[in-house]
Amino acid sequence: MEDNNQALLDKIMSLKKSRNAIILVHNYQLGEVQDIGDFVGDSLELSQQAAKTRADVIVFCGVHFMAETASILCPDKTVLLPEMHAGCPMANMITAPRLREKKKEYPGAAVVCYVNTPAAVKAESDICCTSANAVKIVQLFPREQEIIFVPDKYLGSYAARQAGREMILWPGYCPTHARIQAQDIIRLRKEYPNAKVVAHPECRTEVTDIADAVLSTGGIIRYARESGVKEIIVGTEIGILHRLKKENPDKKFIPVTEQAVCPRMKLTTLESVLWSLENMTHKVKVSENIRARAWAAVDKMLKASI
Ligand code: 13P
Ligand code: SF4
Repeated sequence: MEDNNQALLDKIMSLKKSRNAIILVHNYQLGEVQDIGDFVGDSLELSQQAAKTRADVIVFCGVHFMAETASILCPDKTVLLPEMHAGCPMANMITAPRLREKKKEYPGAAVVCYVNTPAAVKAESDICCTSANAVKIVQLFPREQEIIFVPDKYLGSYAARQAGREMILWPGYCPTHARIQAQDIIRLRKEYPNAKVVAHPECRTEVTDIADAVLSTGGIIRYARESGVKEIIVGTEIGILHRLKKENPDKKFIPVTEQAVCPRMKLTTLESVLWSLENMTHKVKVSENIRARAWAAVDKMLKASI
């Protein structure tokens, strides 16, 4: 078994070299996949890495919208998604035609789209954001400017509360983060009185309201490293525990619930990464008429995030 795994890893590394490929991995991926990443991070960090890589091929171990974002930023590179069915259910809660309808209802409104959207929705938006920069992006607009925020109602509501303004929220949400309940946090706080609670902004409002810190997955990784806190109750998808434990062996991490699993994030395995590099599958390419407009929204966000 050990030898099989080593043989698999050797093949991946040798193909990666011959194809001049880079492997980008999201913080929710299986531990074995995180361990072969050239870079492991959150959506913003991964798009920044995609934008600056000199590799010819990007193997994106994450979900479809992340690979699409890499394709938007790097039209001349080959972007591969090892698992064709790795889509984000929240990103699929909005479509470009439905957003166009909403824009007709609010003709003067600007559109801020979460990066968890199809490329065609980004193309209909003024600017993109991620969980790491949503508050900052919303604050770029004057207070009197109406904003339609899509598709995550919880991230939108969190950003609106932080920015002290109202927004028109699309009714999307993440089914995985919806499983993280305030009552579990209250119970765990009694059990671990010295612990701090971190939560992802995709969590329900009653969860983000009681968390000590509300952060992107990359922000949670930095908080664990830099805050000096020894016990952390973690309100996000549990794939992040692999990196948290690996990077902070002296600290304790307590998931709010073991049920917070994103099934699509778990489809990618070492085998699928190998097949992806062997067969150059599955290519993710955004058509040029959509890409050019989506690029403007993503590029504006990246410039605002420097
Ligand atoms: P991050 O950008 O914080 O990693 O979040 C991505 C995501 O899909 C969270 O569910
Ligand atoms: Fe989408 Fe939620 Fe999975 Fe993130 S955790 S990829 S938002 S379904």
